Amino acid sequence: MSIRTGVSEGVATIEIARPEKKNALTIAMYQAMAEALDAAQADAAVRAVLITGQPGIFSSGNDIEDFMSRGPGEGSINPESPVFRFMRALIGIDKPVVAAVTGAAVGIGTTMLLHCDLVYVSDEARLAMPFVGLGLVPEFGSSLVVPRLMGQVRAAEKLLLGDPFSPQDAVEAGIANAVLPAGEVVNHARRVAERFNALPPGAVRETKKLLRRASAEEVLKTIAVEGELFAQRLRSPEAMEAFQAFFQKRKPDFSKFS
Ligand code: COA
Repeated sequence: MSIRTGVSEGVATIEIARPEKKNALTIAMYQAMAEALDAAQADAAVRAVLITGQPGIFSSGNDIEDFMSRGPGEGSINPESPVFRFMRALIGIDKPVVAAVTGAAVGIGTTMLLHCDLVYVSDEARLAMPFVGLGLVPEFGSSLVVPRLMGQVRAAEKLLLGDPFSPQDAVEAGIANAVLPAGEVVNHARRVAERFNALPPGAVRETKKLLRRASAEEVLKTIAVEGELFAQRLRSPEAMEAFQAFFQKRKPDFSKFS
């Protein structure tokens, strides 16, 4: 199992631990993270959740092998799939979620941060949402939230061109709270999560809901629209070329597509 979980001092920790594949997320890992979030939601002793990765890598995003192995009939959205279960649990949990971005955060590694409440990033991290370069489209509300946070033209850099961005850029854009030295980011995020032990949980819960209320419905609608397109794009020849190129360690060739 490549997800480690545990509860200590009122904080439920979800640690992504598959360093040999740069913390790429498999179906089983999404399932484990969804279950951990549901358990945190149900456990009265848990006041906050901490999501973290490994030194130098937070997550390289969805496992590209899993993307490639989708069978016929999987070209449409499946709200019961583990990735949807995980993101639904993340968006729906009423306890604060703190992220310690220990290193590179790619694809859903960055998208999930948009749905965390407090985000701390290692000074060695890079963030990226390179969906277009993979023949895909943005996912889980990012096409709505990212332009709102950073404006249309900077969102185009990140989502149309897929340019990586620095932890400082993430702070400026309002995606992250602060940049920490790589060796301190997890402890800092944990200390922040532990602060919720001293706050009244009812007021925290209601305030978290209020902070997300204005955009909640639009986010869910956008996720449905993005999800349909994403599922179609996963089966596109453009995506196949991109996935094959990744594993063949070469540049993709999109010159034959129109
Ligand atoms: N899915 C499946 N395998 C992945 C992966 C992913 N998302 N990301 C990395 N891996 C695997 C590599 O294939 C490689 O496996 P191998 O050792 O069997 O060849 C191993 O993890 C190490 O990756 P590598 O690319 O050599 O590490 P790096 O330090 O040079 O680069 C990243 C790290 C994160 C920048 C790079 O791996 C990357 O860009 N990954 C893909 C990101 C991506 O496009 N994600 C999907 C977004 S939707």
